[in-house]
Amino acid sequence: MAAWLSRSAACGICSLRRPLCGGALRWSSSALQEKLRSVQDLPHVSALEMLYRVLVQGYFSSLHMLQVYEKQLYGPIYKNGRNAVSVSSAELLEELVRKDDKFPTRGDMDLWTEYREMRGLGYGPLTEEGERWYKLRAVLNKRMLHPRDSAQYDGVINAVVTDFIKRIKRLRLCSPTGDLVPDIANKFYLFSLEGISSILFEARLGCLSEEIPAGTQEFITSISQMFSNAIYVAIFPKWSRSLLPYWQRYIASWDGIFSFGKTLIDKKMEDIQQRVDNDQDVEDEYLTYLLSNSQMSTRDIYASVTELLLAGVDTTSNTLTWALYQLSRNPETQNRLYEEVSSLVPADRIPSAAEVTAMPFLRAVIKETLRMYPVVPINSRIIKEKPVAVGGYQFPEKTGFTLCHYAISHDENIFPEPYRFKPERWLRDGRQRPNAFGSIPFGYGVRGCVGRRIAELEMYLVLFRLIREFEIKPNPTADDLKIVSRAVLVPNKQLDLHFVDRR
Ligand code: HEM
Repeated sequence: MAAWLSRSAACGICSLRRPLCGGALRWSSSALQEKLRSVQDLPHVSALEMLYRVLVQGYFSSLHMLQVYEKQLYGPIYKNGRNAVSVSSAELLEELVRKDDKFPTRGDMDLWTEYREMRGLGYGPLTEEGERWYKLRAVLNKRMLHPRDSAQYDGVINAVVTDFIKRIKRLRLCSPTGDLVPDIANKFYLFSLEGISSILFEARLGCLSEEIPAGTQEFITSISQMFSNAIYVAIFPKWSRSLLPYWQRYIASWDGIFSFGKTLIDKKMEDIQQRVDNDQDVEDEYLTYLLSNSQMSTRDIYASVTELLLAGVDTTSNTLTWALYQLSRNPETQNRLYEEVSSLVPADRIPSAAEVTAMPFLRAVIKETLRMYPVVPINSRIIKEKPVAVGGYQFPEKTGFTLCHYAISHDENIFPEPYRFKPERWLRDGRQRPNAFGSIPFGYGVRGCVGRRIAELEMYLVLFRLIREFEIKPNPTADDLKIVSRAVLVPNKQLDLHFVDRR
């Protein structure tokens, strides 16, 4: 049994030796107040121990597994080596996020905001805070957050999916077997970029054509440069910036990212102006809606659209990569999915948003993929407005919390056989449903993912068409993939898959 469980065999709240138990719920708040322990009573990891684990024990590339390891050592709540409180059980997570501030804060975005200040740019949903963030989200949420809103983009996404399928067919012809497609993650990256851009900019970028347009390729390079240089910029002291190359590269990559967004937005503005001048109808899609919204300045739009774009590519593309990886290795699960997609929509018809969102197994496949590979495996909150009690401990205001989503979604008490891909655990077919806070891959509450419905729709539509069209088989000579922690969870090596025609 895990060390933390055996340490805390006695009823927690009653003896206050275990952070949380069912008994807590029966206590009146005044009695609880008296008995609350302080942050000093928590098990804690020193900064030195953390460095040892990350640098010497090798957790640098598998920080998600560090969550699992530390949970075994210290239990579901402890002070971590970054001086924040790690929370790694579904019950404690629920307790915490339900007490979140009115304007939730994820934490330190200084490196991102520094660039924006330097260039006099605005802030988007990822970087903005407080009431300004709230107002920004109120505008951005419309036409995006509700399933009804995202459903209107099914035509746009389906057009991108059609091009993607054609590209897969072209690519596999180049392989010796005629059906092998190399580097699936890269293909999904281009698909996701094309998909989200076609929604945000109401324009196609050409990511799925034979040759990627030069500007688009520069943008892709800028994103990866920004993330890789940010690590070094964060590690080295500010005085070293003029001596080392990282800061300049970091700034240049952000310049590339913002200028790409600005060019496309400016083009759209010209287009709208021309239409207005010619008395033509202006189609009211996402960017047009933002541009016509009086509460957003052009500066806000540049920043918000750029941040939406940044958040919307790696997330969906990695989830799709993991989903195909698992489906290729679990033929029975793939067959069950094929049965669903081939029976619910006639073979010659492209499915609508309403159809795919009503498919229980398709949804379960994505849900299970995000449980096993939560692309955001760790998140954070700083509770700023008030002191907060969690798990029988009282924390002062401004306490930072680390939300250990990976450890929680691999808790075998909630998900038996947590390292096995079992989409059926999510079906509403009479079985007991897992704790809802066991897997919240899009976050929770008002600061949760704004792109959730778009992301889900994109993933359902492309997975539906891929599975209906092809049987996806693993490359028999390839080893198992391992997870590497980067900005999101990515495979440790290239994934190649066989796409065999079904018909
Ligand atoms: C598989 C796909 C995706 C996953 C798993 C995912 C997950 C997340 C998570 C966990 C958060 C943090 C939520 C919180 O702190 O409570 C987040 C925030 C965010 N996501 Fe996503 N996301 C995905 C796709 C997208 C897409 C397609 C977009 C763009 C359309 C997007 C835009 C954003 C933005 C802008 C935020 C910041 C929201 C804010 O702070 O107000 N995401 N996402």
